[in-house]
Amino acid sequence: MISQDLNDRITRIGPATAAGDVLRRYWQPAALLDELAGQRPVVPVRLLGEDLVLFRDSEGKLGLIGRHCPHRGVDLCFGRLEDNGLRCPFHGWHFNRDGQCVEQPGEPEASLMHEKIKTTSYPVVERNGIIFAYMGPGEPPAFPNFDCFRAPDTHVFAFKGLWECNWLQALEIGIDPAHASFLHRFLQDEDPKESYGKQFRDKAANTEIPMTQLLRDYPRPEIHVEDTEFGMRIIALRHLEDGRTHVRVTNQTFPEAITIPMSREMIITQWHVPVDDENCYWYSMFTSFGAPVNKDLMREQRLREHSLPGYAPLKNARNNYGFDPDEQAELTYTGMGLDINVHDQWAVESMGAIQDRTTEHLGKTDAAIIHFRRKLRAAIDALENNKPQDLPMWNGGDAAKITGPIANDTICSDGNWRAAYEAGDRARRTGCSDWDAAID
Ligand code: FES
Ligand SMILES: [Fe+2]
Repeated sequence: MISQDLNDRITRIGPATAAGDVLRRYWQPAALLDELAGQRPVVPVRLLGEDLVLFRDSEGKLGLIGRHCPHRGVDLCFGRLEDNGLRCPFHGWHFNRDGQCVEQPGEPEASLMHEKIKTTSYPVVERNGIIFAYMGPGEPPAFPNFDCFRAPDTHVFAFKGLWECNWLQALEIGIDPAHASFLHRFLQDEDPKESYGKQFRDKAANTEIPMTQLLRDYPRPEIHVEDTEFGMRIIALRHLEDGRTHVRVTNQTFPEAITIPMSREMIITQWHVPVDDENCYWYSMFTSFGAPVNKDLMREQRLREHSLPGYAPLKNARNNYGFDPDEQAELTYTGMGLDINVHDQWAVESMGAIQDRTTEHLGKTDAAIIHFRRKLRAAIDALENNKPQDLPMWNGGDAAKITGPIANDTICSDGNWRAAYEAGDRARRTGCSDWDAAID
């Protein structure tokens, strides 16, 4: 357990907060490209407690600017998308994609007042279906050369969903390899042929054992946590009765992403992005090393569980997450259906908007969570001591040279689990014929 003061420091992310300053030093997912697909590409964005509006101008370029008009504060999400910018419907002030006011049609003709009016604006870039924003000082960092960014658009599908809780508890479930044996337990195994686009439904590595059975039968993973140039690698070993070891490698990319295996073909890179202190979006990039991603199927699977435009899950606290005691007795550990996202959502939301960490009791299986909090505290200290160069991926190395990360499930027969997961990763990359997945 930690003090209330420390809990506040590592969870609260508004402007001029300790953790908020750290998150602002990294590119943040701000919207899905899908959200700009309609006739009028203008969407509200609430990110790190700031209210913004994202739009595409007539040159096709993106702008992310303050949501409230700097004149008298009305909502620019209702602005007129015209003249290569966004025009406030109240008095017609016009803003370009950099947030500069370029026209004030109601002011005297010779007025140059607009030259002094510039609203908040942040740089944005689009990568494989997600629009990222940089909200920190100075030049943004380079993107790591991760698989989700290197793979062609055809091999990456992006989606998001809202969770009504603080970002840190959302991230912490993603670096907790033990929970999958319980929270996501299926009391019966589905045919792995039905597994496309779903997590934990494939066969475990190159065995005939469904992942669901392996997780159920071996609930006490041995967990190793290692520092990497991008954050942390988390290795969960499950020692099987026949002497083999199941090895699952997942990653934490600082500050708030994870990369995990989804199936033998795909990995998931997922950010837990603060909307504000008490809400967050997960943004996922599903990256295929095999065939192009069936985006229509994956989108349709997920839209069935979410409502637009807010990507709010249909199962939520207001309807008990669909809890069914009969299902809990016979089919799933939670009684909340087969979509494991709902299980995770229940776990993190039911902790309360910001988990009270003054009353928690961490165990051995929480090793990665403990390690991550240390890294976050170190990053907070570095910024407070004016040493941004000490932050992960800011430390003089070239982030663009960082590849991977390795995220896979393998079976090891000789105890050398590191060699096993490296060999498994090499084989997957060598077999990737549609794009260059090679790493050093
Ligand atoms: S409030 Fe926007 S132009 Fe007046
Ligand atoms: Fe989970």
